[in-house]
Amino acid sequence: MAVERGGRVVTTTESERLRAAFMDTVYREADRDDVAFYRERATAAEGHVLELGCGGGRIYLEVLAAGVDADGIDRSAHSLAVLREKASERNLSPSVWQADMSAFTVDQAYDLIYCPFNAIQELTTIEDQQNLLESAYDALDSDGTLVFDTFVPDFEFIASTWGEWQHRTVQFRGKPVEFQTRTRLVDTVSQEYISEKRAVWPDGSELFSFEGRAALLPAREIELLARNSPFESWHATGDYTDEPLADGHSAQVWALEK
Ligand SMILES: C[S@@+](CC[C@H](N)C(=O)[O-])C[C@H]1O[C@@H](n2cnc3c(N)ncnc32)[C@H](O)[C@@H]1O
Repeated sequence: MAVERGGRVVTTTESERLRAAFMDTVYREADRDDVAFYRERATAAEGHVLELGCGGGRIYLEVLAAGVDADGIDRSAHSLAVLREKASERNLSPSVWQADMSAFTVDQAYDLIYCPFNAIQELTTIEDQQNLLESAYDALDSDGTLVFDTFVPDFEFIASTWGEWQHRTVQFRGKPVEFQTRTRLVDTVSQEYISEKRAVWPDGSELFSFEGRAALLPAREIELLARNSPFESWHATGDYTDEPLADGHSAQVWALEK
């Protein structure tokens, strides 16, 4: 399919490919603490490791480069193509495939399954969230662990910035690209929000525009999901440290043990 954007005809496949590559650049630029955190967890694991929602491999490739026997799944074929390209630049051999993390099966048992960077929030129904926990439980070794993180919904931040377009410039393929984002709550009852993203080349033509739906996940809701899951025990820490999750942390990191 082709669409006219900024006076230029762009195929939707091309725009999806560009989105995957561009978002991977944006995520890498953020230089988040989660890379070191998951690399450490993965190198400490005794057996195989699986990343859910591995995207362009920002974390996955670091885990692989550290010598870990790691697999990855993602629903986006374009993100997996970005990951494979980056792997080949580094002479790494990734083991990744396209799958939905709310309904996946595997043919080996993992010691650690991890799902970084708010990806679980993209499952917007309780059923999908429960299915993820159950699929992960089934895919783990008898003493395996599922680790995931989401942002702590901070209502001061949400009230002051959501609903407004944010603009910044991102260097992409040697050019300054204007990146526009807006996040807005679309359902106050279910606490679902839409994240709009648009990127524009310096000549005004559009790389892509996209709307993604996700749900806020406060700690109490995750605690209830854990209580209703087959996992034996769980705990939450804050901001990729060993500190128990507390007011003031912006990331909640959950570890569910089988
Ligand atoms: C915020 S990105 C994180 C990518 C990568 N893990 C990182 O940390 O840079 C979330 C990823 O989750 C993937 N994703 C979202 N929902 C998914 C689902 N139901 N099944 C598999 N992957 C999913 C998206 O395609 C995307 O690549």
